Amino acid sequence: MSEKKRMITGDRPTGRLHIGHYFGSLQNRVKMQDDYDCYILVADVQALTDNFENPEKVRKNVREVVMDYLSVGIDPKKTTIYIQSMIPEVAELTVFYSNLVTIARLERNPTVKTEIAQKKEIFGESVTYGFLGYPVSQAADITALEGSIVPVGEDQLPLIEQTREIVRKFNSIYGEILIEPEAVLSNTKRIKGLDGNEKMGKSLGNAIYLSDSEEEITKKVMSAVTDPGRIKKDDPGNPNICMVSYYHNLFSTKEEVEAVCNECKAGTRGCVACKKQLAKNIIDYLAPIREKRKYYEERPELVDKILEEGTKKARQTAKETMKKVKKVMKLDYFE
Ligand code: TRP
Repeated sequence: MSEKKRMITGDRPTGRLHIGHYFGSLQNRVKMQDDYDCYILVADVQALTDNFENPEKVRKNVREVVMDYLSVGIDPKKTTIYIQSMIPEVAELTVFYSNLVTIARLERNPTVKTEIAQKKEIFGESVTYGFLGYPVSQAADITALEGSIVPVGEDQLPLIEQTREIVRKFNSIYGEILIEPEAVLSNTKRIKGLDGNEKMGKSLGNAIYLSDSEEEITKKVMSAVTDPGRIKKDDPGNPNICMVSYYHNLFSTKEEVEAVCNECKAGTRGCVACKKQLAKNIIDYLAPIREKRKYYEERPELVDKILEEGTKKARQTAKETMKKVKKVMKLDYFE
């Protein structure tokens, strides 16, 4: 048995991953690989809770997200990557857990509350049973795999809290068999969008994707928001309110940052030159990721194999958990 603590986390496959994901969570996951027994799930069932009319979209993005994982250095030898819907024990466990949580408690979950408010166009006035219950299914994701550490962004903390409550309730009623997981914040760095929006996101159209081509990166950087007070090229600029300077800080050397900021403030460097330099640095920075991604794009059967093996391994653990759960719940018939 491995002595390492088990870490589990995941993403909804609703789109390709961008540099916000990279700095916010992926880099952290790569680092954790040597110290933890790592599992990452592609949460296709959860993605369907608010994309149930778009099964194609979810299906397509499963492979995109996995290629993003692999391209940043998540190593399938160290991290088990698997598909949520392929673990039927998780769905089964969700049903059992649904007795241990009230509707009022789910409605109070701040993350769920915010999401419901944002998704009025999908749910109208009354949210689906499936969406309201996704925290229950997430509790099943984590506990079926006996995860003890869950690295997540801040918005996910109420979900982990809800998992912990379900675990405590289960253990107090049926017996102490489930592991109460702990959240660890992975979002030390939240990356703003190219337009200055606090959040980078697909729907906002302000993101640079890990899979973007050199041309796409250049085009996006050229449209980034700069100091609005700087009209003419030789007007002195304020890098503190410029997204290009913000990104230089992430992708350029300290010396470069200093030089571009000083020249901007002095009005001796135009925004176009500054953006071109940034675009080049981002392109160079992401080059190894793009290359690795290309390797997997050309080998879809390899990606499938990684997923299939990961899913098989994850399922084994989920089956063992289910056996214990059924035993304490007196559902172990014919054994
Ligand atoms: N809710 C997570 C998100 O939207 C995805 C997710 C599903 C997850 N199951 C999980 C995260 C289990 C951590 C653990 O990003």
